[in-house]
Formats: sequence, structure tokens, C-alpha cells
Amino acid sequence: MIMKRLLQTLVLACIPGIITSDPEPLQDFCIAAAPGDMAANPHSMFINGSPCISPTLAGSAHFMTSVLAKPGNTSANPFGFNVTLTNIRNLPGVNTQGLTMARVDIALHGQVPPHSHPRASEVTLLLKGTLLVGFVDTSNKLFTQQLRPGDSFVFPKGLTHFLYNIDTVSPAVAVSGLNSQNPGAQIVALATFASKPSILDEVLKKAFMIGGQDVERIRKNLGG
Ligand SMILES: *[C@@H]1O[C@H](CO)[C@@H](O)[C@H](O)[C@H]1NC(C)=O
Ligand SMILES: *[C@@H]1O[C@H](CO)[C@@H](O)[C@H](O)[C@H]1NC(C)=O
Repeated sequence: MIMKRLLQTLVLACIPGIITSDPEPLQDFCIAAAPGDMAANPHSMFINGSPCISPTLAGSAHFMTSVLAKPGNTSANPFGFNVTLTNIRNLPGVNTQGLTMARVDIALHGQVPPHSHPRASEVTLLLKGTLLVGFVDTSNKLFTQQLRPGDSFVFPKGLTHFLYNIDTVSPAVAVSGLNSQNPGAQIVALATFASKPSILDEVLKKAFMIGGQDVERIRKNLGG
């Protein structure tokens, strides 16, 4: 009897559609529209993802992009990096596949500062240069490695991580694969000190154990 029940449960669990989890969010949030919103302003509507064209209209070009061929310009960025991403606009065939590719260019002594991707794990392959990479887990333990060309490193989903170019002569180039078509990126320094509107000074003073002038200086340095 117990065996039969167990078997039934297992069989039910294996039939797709009977037991499914909620879809993963593809945006930071998706506020439910009220009845009538759609009719009032159809162009202001978002869905969790992007609609698809008819499969009969699909062509090979929808699955190809050269967007990662060109280096990003790192001089315009205060941290000395530039990330170029595939997305559903420059690579429409990636829609619903749960994938993003990133080209990461990092200037001499530049870095991708501590940041996280709320919706994706990431694996980075270093093509050129020397990088010190690392992430911090939720117990605040640091995992760090020095990468040479050909080396790869995994950044687990949602954890704060960084990539720092320690090469003395050459810029660094890496490619990353991320398992979401919209990984999202939140740079810790900007989220805390350059949000719009600003987080209350008292909160930042206490959170970072600094004075009001420090808050002002950091905010100004980060363009907040
Ligand atoms: C990244 O590089 C591209 C191509 O050179 C440039 O158009 C873009 O402004 C750069 N982005 C940043 C944030 O500097
Ligand atoms: C890179 O960006 C800088 C600063 O915005 C600009 O002066 C320079 O012309 C750009 N270089 C290229 C190759 O686009």
C-alpha cells in the first residue's frame, strides 16, 4: 500500500505540467496590471520576458551576432571596464533560452568593482591578460584566484564578485556566460552611495561606520 502510494507520487511528480514551480523573474519586478490598464495604454505593458515571432519567420541570422567582436571602450568608465552583452535585441534567438554572453574589457589597473547578478550564475573565461577574481559567500568568506589566459572561474548566482586586472602591461579581455537572458547587475558602491534618490546619510554612516563628510565625499566621487 505504502509502496503503491510512493509510486503514484513519483509518477505524478515526473509528469511535466502537473507539478511545476513558478517561472523565474526576468526583471527586477513585474507589478501586476489592473484590469483596463492594457486597454488604456497597451504600450506601457511589460510581460515577464519577450513575445516571440512566428517560428515560420525565423532565420539563421536571428541566432547570430557580432556584437562581442569589438572591444568596449574602457576610458569612459571611472572603474576602467566595459561590458558588452548579448541580449534579445542584438541576438533575438536567445529569447527564452536562459543565456547571456558577455565580453569584458578591463583597462590596465582597471576593475569590474564588487557587484552581483541577481538572476544568474556566471562562468568567466580569461582570453588575455592576468586577472585577480573573487567572490564573497553569504558567510563573508572570500574565494579568490589569479587567472591566466585559458583559465575559467565560476561566480555563484547572486553573490558579490569582482575582476581586477593585475597585469602591468596589458589590458584584459574575458568572456562570460550567464544563465539568464536578463542577469541584471548591481554594483555595490553605486547601489549604496549613488542611488537616486540617495539613501539617508544616517543609514550609510552607521552601515559603513563612517562620518557625514565621508558619506558626502564617497557620494561625490561616485557621481551620486
Ligand atoms: C562601452 O564601449 C562602447 C563601445 O566602444 C561604448 O559605446 C560605450 O559607451 C562604452 N560604455 C561605457 C559605460 O563606457
Ligand atoms: C573612448 O572614450 C573616450 C572618453 O569618452 C573618448 O575620448 C575616446 O575617443 C573613445 N575611444 C574610442 C576608440 O571610441
